[in-house]
Amino acid sequence: MMFTRVEHQRNGLDLIKIDNDEAKIVFTNYGARIVSWKYEDNNIVLGNVVEADEFYQENPFYFGASVGRYGGRIADGKFELDNQTYQLEQNDPPSHLHGGSNGIDRHLFDYEIKDENGGYIQIIFTTTIKEADDHYPGDIKLKIIHTYDIDNRWSIEYYAESDQTTLFNPTNHVYFNLNRDNKEVDNHYFTSDKLNIHLLNDQNLPEAAATLDLVNLFNKNKIRLTEMFESENARLNEQMETYKGLDHPFSIGDELIVENSQFLLKMKTDMPNVVVFTFNDTSSWKSDMNIYKAHSGFTLETQNLPNDINLFGKDAPSILQKDQAYYSRTTYQIIEKLM
Ligand code: GAL
Repeated sequence: MMFTRVEHQRNGLDLIKIDNDEAKIVFTNYGARIVSWKYEDNNIVLGNVVEADEFYQENPFYFGASVGRYGGRIADGKFELDNQTYQLEQNDPPSHLHGGSNGIDRHLFDYEIKDENGGYIQIIFTTTIKEADDHYPGDIKLKIIHTYDIDNRWSIEYYAESDQTTLFNPTNHVYFNLNRDNKEVDNHYFTSDKLNIHLLNDQNLPEAAATLDLVNLFNKNKIRLTEMFESENARLNEQMETYKGLDHPFSIGDELIVENSQFLLKMKTDMPNVVVFTFNDTSSWKSDMNIYKAHSGFTLETQNLPNDINLFGKDAPSILQKDQAYYSRTTYQIIEKLM
C-alpha cells in the first residue's frame, strides 16, 4: 500500500509526504527538493520537516535541492556559446556555483501528484527558468518528476526545453547518511566497476584529463571512505588534505553502491559523472538550526563534468540546443541488509 498527504506550511511551501509499508519520503515544492527519507525509524537523508518553511530558505548547503540550471562550478562565471561571451554571477568567488542565487533551488514549483495505485507515486514539478533571472541565454520550461515505488526506489527525471541554445546541467543535492544518529559517514563503502576520481585544481575545478583510477590504485572495487581519506598515494592525499574530504566528480560504472553494515544504497544514472561531497565544513552557517558536524552526510550529485563548457567548448555535453528536448534520469534505491 502507498499513500500521499500534503501539509501546507508558511510562504507557499508544501510538504508532499509519501508512505509505503517500510518507508516514508517527503518532498517539497520549494526547490522541488527531497526533505526526508526514512526507512522504518532510520533517517537516511539530511533535512528538516518540522521547520521546512524557515530551514530551507536559510540553509546554505542546498539540502535535497534541485540545482540548476547548471549544477557544478563554472570558472570565473564566464563562458562562450555561439561566439557570444556570457558573464554569470560569481556567487562562489571567483566561480559561479549551482546556477547562482536565483537558481531553481529557490523556485516555488507548481506540482501535481499522480497516484494510480500502480505500485508507485509521482510528483510532477514544473517551473520556468528565466534568462532575466540567472543571465544564461534562453528561457527553459522544466519538469522534474520525483517517483517513489514499493521497492523503495526514488527516481528523478528531468524534462526540459529552451527557447535559445543554452547550458543545462541540473542535479539534485541530496545528502545521504545511512548511519543511525547521523554519525559521520566515513565508514561507508563505495562500490562500482569503475571509480575514477577527477582531481581538482585550487579553484575547486576539475581538469579534464586529471583522473585517478581508484579501482586500480586500491586493487579492488569496494572502497571505504576512510581508505580514500587516509590514502598514502601522494596525489590523492594532497586532494584530501586540501578539501578535508571529497568534493569531487567521479566517473563510475553501470551502478554505484554505497553501504554501511545495515543498508545498501544503489544509484543508477544516465549522466557521465557524480559529484561526491562529504560535507567537509559545516561551520559557515551561523544558526541554531545548524546541528551538522563535518562529514555528517555525503552527496551523490549526478551531472556532466563541472565547467565542461570551458573544458570542451562547443563539444560540451551541457549545451542544450534551442527547442531540443532534454531528458535525464537518476535513481536511488534503499535496501535493508538481512542481519
Ligand atoms: C557542492 C560543492 C561544494 C559546496 C556544496 C554546497 O556541490 O561542490 O563545494 O559548495 O555543494 O554547500
